[in-house]
This record gives sequence, C-alpha cells and structure tokens, in this order.
Amino acid sequence: MKITTATSNIAELEKRREAARMGGGQKRIDAQHSKGRLTARERLDVLLDEGSFEELDMYVEHNCTDFGMEATKIPGDGVVTGSGTINGRLVFVFSQDFTVFGGSLSERHAQKICKVMDNAMKVGAPVIGINDSGGARIQEGVASLGGYAEVFQRNVLASGVVPQLSLIMGPCAGGAVYSPAMTDFIFMVKDSSYMFVTGPDVVKTVTNEVVTQEELGGAVTHTSKSGVADNAFENDIEALLAARDFFDYLPENNRMGVPERPTSDPYDRLEPSLDTVIPASATMPYDMHEVIRKTVDEGDFFEVQPTHAGNIIVGFGRIEGRTVGVVANQPTVLAGCLDINASKKAGRFVRFCDAFEIPIITFVDVPGFLPGVSQEHNGIIKHGAKLLFAYAEATVPKITVITRKAYGGAYDVMASKHLRGDLNYAWPTAEIAVMGAKGAVEIIFRSDIGDPEKIAERTKEYEDRFANPFVAASKGFIDEVIYPHSTRKRIALGLRKLRNKQLENPWKKHDNIPL
Ligand code: HXC
Repeated sequence: MKITTATSNIAELEKRREAARMGGGQKRIDAQHSKGRLTARERLDVLLDEGSFEELDMYVEHNCTDFGMEATKIPGDGVVTGSGTINGRLVFVFSQDFTVFGGSLSERHAQKICKVMDNAMKVGAPVIGINDSGGARIQEGVASLGGYAEVFQRNVLASGVVPQLSLIMGPCAGGAVYSPAMTDFIFMVKDSSYMFVTGPDVVKTVTNEVVTQEELGGAVTHTSKSGVADNAFENDIEALLAARDFFDYLPENNRMGVPERPTSDPYDRLEPSLDTVIPASATMPYDMHEVIRKTVDEGDFFEVQPTHAGNIIVGFGRIEGRTVGVVANQPTVLAGCLDINASKKAGRFVRFCDAFEIPIITFVDVPGFLPGVSQEHNGIIKHGAKLLFAYAEATVPKITVITRKAYGGAYDVMASKHLRGDLNYAWPTAEIAVMGAKGAVEIIFRSDIGDPEKIAERTKEYEDRFANPFVAASKGFIDEVIYPHSTRKRIALGLRKLRNKQLENPWKKHDNIPL
C-alpha cells in the first residue's frame, strides 16, 4: 500500500515537473522557435555546464484574481530560476519565459528573481539574467511595478559585490530596461532583441519621428550609438556561448580575487614584432589590438563595447592565467583622442575592474581630448572627469605602458604616475609632452610663424627636447623605458610583485563621481 502511494507521489511530481517544463505549451514554444529564439530552458542548457542546473520555484504561480487570471495559472509564472555552473564555477540565473504570459513580470515572478539574487549575495556568486519579457504583467498593475522595484533595489545592492550580467534575448521595454541597465554588462542579440523606454508607436505620437524597433533600440543601435549595451551577437547560441567565455574572466565576488586558469604561454615570451609596430611618422595610425593581443596569454582578449567609442579599447585578457582589465587608446579611430563616449566607456570599465580587484593594464597613445563645439556643449568636462576620477580612485594594481603620444591632460588621465600608477613604463617611441611639436611651436614661437625655416628649426628643437620618454623618466614619472618586445614580461613581473598590493582610500560613505 505504501509503495503504491510513493509511486503515485512520484508520478504526481513528474507530472507537475513536466507541466512546468512545457511553460506556455507547445504552440507557444513553436512560435518562439519560429522567431529564431530558444526557449528559456533551452537557453539555460546552452549557458550552463551540462546537467548542472538546479531549478528553484518551479511550481510558483501568480496570485492575480483580476481579469479572469485565476483561471490561467502556469507553473513557474514566466521565469525559470536557479543555479548552475559555468566551467565548474557557481552562478545564479534567471531566464524569462516568453511562452508564459509573454514573460511578463508579476509579483511572484519578481519574487523568484529576488530569491536567486538574495541567494547569490549570501554566498558571493555572480548573477546572469536572461531577459525576454513583455514588461509589467498588465493584469497585476502596481503589484508588478513593486516587483520591478524589488529587483532594482537588489541590483543596486549587488553592484560591486557580485558581477551581474544581462542577456537581452527578446523584448525589454519600459521601466523593465532599468534592471539590466544597472547590471555590469549587457549582451544583446541582433534582430531579435530590443530595449527602449518608449517604443516606436509612442515615439511617433509624441515626437512624430518614424523609427523601427531595431533602429530605436536594437542590438546594433545600443552597442554602437547609445553604448547602453556592450556586445551584440548574431543569435541566441552565439550570445550564450560568448557569455560562458566572458564569465571565465570574472571573479565570483569582490573579495575572492581573479580566477586562475592554467596557461602554456611563457610569462617571458618576447615579441620582437612590437619593436617595429610604431610607424615612422607620428601621424600614422597602427592597430592597438595588435599590441594587446601580443601581450596577453595566448592572444585571448575579450573586448567589451568593440563597436562603441572605438577610440578607446577596453576588455579582459589574462597574464600568467590571471584576469587583467585592459584599457588602451586606439590610434586608428579619431587618432586615439579621448572624447565623451570614450571617457564614459573606459571610466565605467575601470570602476568595474577596481570593484572586483582586477588589475588594470593601460596602453597609452593619446594626442589629447577631442576638440569641438559639440564635445564642449555636451559636457566633455564632466564626462572626461569620469575617467580621471575612476583611475584616481582605483586601488587595484595599475600598470601603464606609453607606446607613443601622451599629451596634455590626457597624459595625466591615462593611469599616470600621479594617479597612483604602480608601474609606469614607456617605449622608447613615447612622446610625453603638453602637446605635439607643431602646436607647441605655433604658440610659443608665434612671432616666427611667417618664417618656415625658423619654424622648422624650432619644431625640431621642441621634438628633440620633448618627443621622447626621457624627460618624464628623469623626473621619475616613468619608472623605466622598456623594449617593446619585452612588454609582456615586464607586465607579468610587475603583476607578480603587485599581487599583495594594499592601498586604501580615506573612509567615506561614498564618493561623488561626476555623473
Ligand atoms: C501580460 C502579456 C504582456 C504583459 C505580452 N503578454 N505582454 N501579458 N502583461 N505585459 C501576453 C500577450 O497577451 C500574449 O498572450 C503573449 O504574452 C504573447 O504576446 P504577443 O503580443 O502575442 O507577442 P508578440 O506579438 O511577440 O509581441 C510582444 C510584445 C507585445 C511586443 C511584448 O506583447 C506587447 O506589446 N506587450 C505589451 C508590452 C507592454 O506595454 N508592457 C507594459 C510596459 S510598461 P497570449 O495568451 O495571447 O499568448 C512596463 C513598466 C515596467 O513594463 C515598469 C518598471 C518600473
């Protein structure tokens, strides 16, 4: 008799699990597939190590009794939550299920997300959220808005404690965008996901602008124009596999330190090709990606925001198997000038690294801040200050390599010695000065401007004096002028020495970074 009961209990469990796994039913699953999208569960299968997912709250249902909702309850209530591992490391996840009420967020749906976020905070593990949702569950009204705010509050408290990554794989509109916006990184899928505060119809009504969903808030728009999202991918699978790679660079929390992975790349690998990477002419660009790839382990570099503010490169690599954050001016775009977008992009990245104890390697080739009325009117002063502020407050190991130009205020900003750079190196090709020779001569020898011969002579004189790293090195602002081919080795040795670096900023409630 007992056996029969146990068997039927297990059968009941299986029945309930199966019902939950089917979400909104086969028809809606097929509809999801026909849009080229995976379901919430399929996405977790790709994201997490095989068999590692442990689900929570599979049987949670909504509590709404308005608009006939009591008659339609679907177990799970539109979001699949739990934990799993990525290459063996713990991660908490939620994945919105568009087949259930369009993935819309109810009070209970929000509670499920909050529970995994609370669990992640308790044990110090990252959170990855997969967003695919029609927004607030309309039938629930303010209960749903309250649910969003509960999630927002947790996003903020988790910020800087555990890494948070958002994958946008469907609609994400209205106030719902603000949860991903407060996470550390956002990945989107092209032609399949969008984020906007108000959609094309509202925009048309209010401003009379006609725009498609994709143009207004698609992956390309947000990863190139607005900079709201970090990386765009062709489809769900590509995005999820990239998230796995990306996750491997991230620490579990703000106290655990960077993850280590074995590498066969020798720390002292020399790169003779770097000795000739700088062109003979100071105005000729070269691709800073080459310098980065030749420095990090096995050439592996995960670039963040590759299509936004290309004049600065940010991303993660490894040295001796340990994650480093790389920030580098890119001479091929706007000559590597700092502008509003570059300052915001790199400032936020530097703060992420600092919050999670990831050492920062900075490659400098910067002719200065970008001149222009629009830059000034749009607040380059305040935005440029973000990057300066971020570098200055950062207490993680900071190693800087000046490859060529380091002019003006931008020299100070880019992790200079004066902002507590730990090791400041320069290549022999470095030019550290208030500005380039031509500009300098035109100012300080203005009376000679009509005499090309004299100007040429003065320019040569200025170049000989300042277009080198030795003036700065003579003052101790540069610790050593290094051979370009030894860059990796010098950085690796530097990081070894800095492993136990201890530096604390004065006590404060929090700072007041120029937002
Ligand atoms: C309840 C919803 C829903 C929602 C979609 N559904 N959104 N149910 N609340 N917000 C349901 C639909 O009724 C439908 O149910 C199913 O999900 C699939 O939706 P479709 O419209 O058939 O899908 P599709 O054509 O792909 O269009 C997707 C969509 C559209 C563009 C997201 O559903 C839509 O516009 N939804 C409303 C979006 C919205 O205005 N949300 C509120 C935003 S304000 P059936 O049973 O027919 O399959 C907001 C505030 C947050 O979110 C504030 C936080 C501070």
